[in-house]
Amino acid sequence: MKYRLVFLVTITVAFYSVNLRAVQSGASEPRTTFKQTEVITKTTNPFGWKIETASSVYQIALAQDNIVVPVYYGPRGQALDILKPGVKVDTRAGDTIQEVHLYQGQHGPFLELHNDRIKVYLDFKVGSTIREVPFRGGFVEQTPAVEVVFPDGTRDCELVYASSEIFEIDGFPCLRIDLKDPAYGLFVSSYIRVIPELDILEKWIVLTNKGTEPIRIENAQSGSVWLPPDEYDLLHLCGKWGHEFMLQRTRLTPGVKTIQVRGFVANETPPWFAVTPADQGSETQGAVWFGGLHWSGNWRLDFEKNFNGNVQIIGGINFWDTTWQLKSKEQFSTPKMVFGFAPDGMTGASTRMHTYIRRHVLRPKFRNTLRPVLYNSWYATTFYVNEEQQLALARIAKEIGVELFVIDDGWFKGRVNDHAGLGDWTVDKKKFPNGLKPLIKKINDLGLDFGIWVEPEMVNPDSDLYRAHPEWALHYPKRTPHQLRHQLVLNLARQDVYDYLLESLTTLLRENNIRFIKWDRNRPLSEPGWPDAPRSMQREVRIRFIHNLYRLIDELRARFPEVLFETCSSGGGRNDLGIFSRMDQVWTSDNTDPVGRIMIQHGFLHAFPAKLMVSWITHEDWHNVRPSLRFRFHVSMSGVLGIGADLTTWSQQQRDLAAEMIAQYKQIRPVVQEGICHRLHSPFESNRAALEYVSPDGSQAVVFLYNLWETLGGSTSSARASGTLHLRGLDPDANYSLTGDWQGTVDGRTLMNIGLPWFIRGNFNSAIVMLKRQTKQ
Ligand code: DGJ
Repeated sequence: MKYRLVFLVTITVAFYSVNLRAVQSGASEPRTTFKQTEVITKTTNPFGWKIETASSVYQIALAQDNIVVPVYYGPRGQALDILKPGVKVDTRAGDTIQEVHLYQGQHGPFLELHNDRIKVYLDFKVGSTIREVPFRGGFVEQTPAVEVVFPDGTRDCELVYASSEIFEIDGFPCLRIDLKDPAYGLFVSSYIRVIPELDILEKWIVLTNKGTEPIRIENAQSGSVWLPPDEYDLLHLCGKWGHEFMLQRTRLTPGVKTIQVRGFVANETPPWFAVTPADQGSETQGAVWFGGLHWSGNWRLDFEKNFNGNVQIIGGINFWDTTWQLKSKEQFSTPKMVFGFAPDGMTGASTRMHTYIRRHVLRPKFRNTLRPVLYNSWYATTFYVNEEQQLALARIAKEIGVELFVIDDGWFKGRVNDHAGLGDWTVDKKKFPNGLKPLIKKINDLGLDFGIWVEPEMVNPDSDLYRAHPEWALHYPKRTPHQLRHQLVLNLARQDVYDYLLESLTTLLRENNIRFIKWDRNRPLSEPGWPDAPRSMQREVRIRFIHNLYRLIDELRARFPEVLFETCSSGGGRNDLGIFSRMDQVWTSDNTDPVGRIMIQHGFLHAFPAKLMVSWITHEDWHNVRPSLRFRFHVSMSGVLGIGADLTTWSQQQRDLAAEMIAQYKQIRPVVQEGICHRLHSPFESNRAALEYVSPDGSQAVVFLYNLWETLGGSTSSARASGTLHLRGLDPDANYSLTGDWQGTVDGRTLMNIGLPWFIRGNFNSAIVMLKRQTKQ
């Protein structure tokens, strides 16, 4: 007994202090090439599986009684590696372990370690129901991923190991562990697909009913992970319309922290997180576990911390007000939940997530193409559109270098203002008596592509569609539906609504040479009733809606593969991996004020890449600071550049400046859209902000500097921040030529260690510096 206690304490301490040392010293060098067969391996001591990526290890064990237990998730070179037979463990006695066994004990799973002298136990110190796929059943001491009700009313389930397979999906290794309920026909397959060079695990589960009667699913989360015991901070994004993507940092204390969406619209928060040890986690240092969800409907992410310091992260569809009837022989698949690990701070986390989105999430067709410079006429003409005026804007847009012209809201039948028209996706003959074709032809003749705005999921009560099919809107028979922006939500869970939208959008795209769709969605759900459906299906409406939305977009994309799609939801209300796998870019926010945009874009770039981040130049000035046109351009040029201002009011001087800026943007666009983003100065920490993008091969970089306001150096706490700009991610031994607003030749080491002086002066002033690596002599 004496040995047991001593050993337990020392092993625990050794185990976790090794973790921290490895992270801090950067001991785990990321690898870039992998033999697929070495990413997921079966282990025998303990029996289970080990997933190794460039910088992380995820370990699962099969314990006594066939339970599948998550053992470790964190930096490489740790985990049970140090506990395997033959390894000398840092105990006072200097013991060597000869056998390792994992058992299910009275208080939970524990490791039994043997050598010839001692037999010791390493208690995981977690509850007795810690499972790779946690379920409602037995003692429940974690947030469950599976909650079901069996036909006889039993609400507990029991999932034990049945089989497993290691195989590939699209060239990447995948582990499937099949679990079964010994008493009922429920089978649950848990998938983990691995992108090893990005340290990313995609997790999802599939529930199958092999019984004869329906099983009611009350919850099915995509995946769960446990972090080693520690104090952690959670970083997430939240905000509201016009103020999206504000970064929050909060300590995870014992209990559950939930971020979620219940009405589909997510201006308040996108499904993204980062968790970092409380005393670490800067931009460039510290371990970060991060992730996101492939789901655009209601979702939730839970961060549950128990009193021992273990933290469970679990995410998936939000089953609030939702159940799913799993009929005999049917399957239910959850969306993918992505978990990643970075040993190198927030920049490491966002670089991995950005690269994952660019290389693995975006549609292959537009994955490797650059996003065009667009003009959108919404701010210039709102609903009052006609051919002549759109053409006048298009001519100037072309003159200054725009590549794509987009007509926004207002072009379709009856759309005089936001009270009418949604649902009737035919051209308004009063505004365009000859249809859109002549306008599109003239725009194409100018050398511009043509794009159009739609909001398919919505209907105005004042529309032909609603007059013909009032039952197509979500509603409860005895409740007055809430309108927002004078519109209701169509019940896209219905097959007839799906068919109608597919047909009307297909007609629109087939009859007109449209190369770009801006797909808007301007209100959340309310009264989500579906009285025509069988009672057992009515609470499936929110999930079926999203399934059909995905089916609709996928079908349109298959029919019109050349069309680029932009997601929009009153600005940044729909940003998740599910929509990014279907749409190629994002309308980031309705806030186009450049000062506000610096803050919004700073948050956005933590989670999502600049290649998605559409940013227009308009006349908006929310802070009454009269930003210059050049400043506006510099803010928008750090993402996907667009123009939204009324170009007919621009002087020749403004047009010349715009032409110059757009030409410069085209030069730096590959680095901005495909590069690694370093957030050099946060606008929340001082009166300055700076971003740097480095091309993937390191040969080029672009730096954006923004002065927010200027006071005497040091006179306010925010003006006390460093006035030196240390660049990052450069080759220390190479020389770089600097052009743009700072010129010269400087080596990478100096640029990173000594840095550039903050050379711009004055309120709301800005600069761009372009760097090119010189070939070594
Ligand atoms: C909301 C969007 O965010 C705007 O960009 C614009 O498209 C309007 N809808 C049009 O109604």
